[in-house]
Amino acid sequence: MTRDNQDPWADWILERRHGGDTEQRRRTLAYLRPIRDRVLDHAQIDADDVVLDVGAGDGLIGFGALDRLSDQGRVIFSDVSTDLLDRGRMIADELDVADRCQFVEASANDLAALDDDAVDVVTVRSVLIYVADKPRAFREFRRVLRPGGRLSIFEPINSFNYPAPPGTLAGYDLTAVRDLAEKVKAVFARHQPPDADPMLNFDERDLLQYAQDAEFSDVHMRYEVDIEVAKEPMAWETFLRTSANPTIPTFEEAMREALTESEIGQLTHQLKPLVEAGQGVSRGAHVYLWARSA
Ligand SMILES: C[S@@+](CC[C@H](N)C(=O)[O-])C[C@H]1O[C@@H](n2cnc3c(N)ncnc32)[C@H](O)[C@@H]1O
Repeated sequence: MTRDNQDPWADWILERRHGGDTEQRRRTLAYLRPIRDRVLDHAQIDADDVVLDVGAGDGLIGFGALDRLSDQGRVIFSDVSTDLLDRGRMIADELDVADRCQFVEASANDLAALDDDAVDVVTVRSVLIYVADKPRAFREFRRVLRPGGRLSIFEPINSFNYPAPPGTLAGYDLTAVRDLAEKVKAVFARHQPPDADPMLNFDERDLLQYAQDAEFSDVHMRYEVDIEVAKEPMAWETFLRTSANPTIPTFEEAMREALTESEIGQLTHQLKPLVEAGQGVSRGAHVYLWARSA
């Protein structure tokens, strides 16, 4: 499933998230920038802070944090993906900020590479959805934060949108070819079993509880839902090459796994015009959570 021997996390962030389409990548980044800014605002970063960005990916939050720091401030980028950490190192070299960056291979629920009270700020964007043991991750955030340190999180709440209405696929109404749509959805469910998947094993109240159980104080949460009766129009080829997250196939791969050539033709006949016209419903929920280490 991976390209250029990249690990699946790097392959998704750098390629499959936007179907390898430059315009779609630009749209994704335009969507993410205000989210980054809110996460960093909630973190109340001081100029000389040490910031730990957990699940740093290709550095959206971490390099954004660096821009808010003085020459004395530092950012620690942690991730489970060696390839994304390497990419972060490359970007840091290019930006000539490598002396203020540290790269650590670690899972969000095991930050043993970092001492207790090691950082002033922990940021986390769209990472806990991939972590099965979320309570332990919160305990690790608390452990590595110095007293008075700040935690700032953004996470999608995917359970809000599950299960999707029958006959729909990715928000498009395919009731005319409902059986085919359900076959494709079954492929996604096989790759990402809903009863065992960390993306679906929590909601906003759980996150609040985990923060309190880890003895964070001054806990704030904003829960936001957006239901829009139109989607961004997308080129069909881009749609085919896109996957909604790193653990599942692209739409094209899922269609090929589930359907015969003739069924692919029928599904394409229904779905392609909807994708190209943006005629679908976009539904999503997410939270911003921020708190202080007591
Ligand atoms: C959706 S990306 C978000 C990347 C980055 N935080 C951002 O805002 O662009 C999810 C990131 O979480 C990382 N990840 C997945 N499982 C993880 C885990 N158990 N611990 C830490 N990071 C993880 C992936 O490698 C990937 O970089």
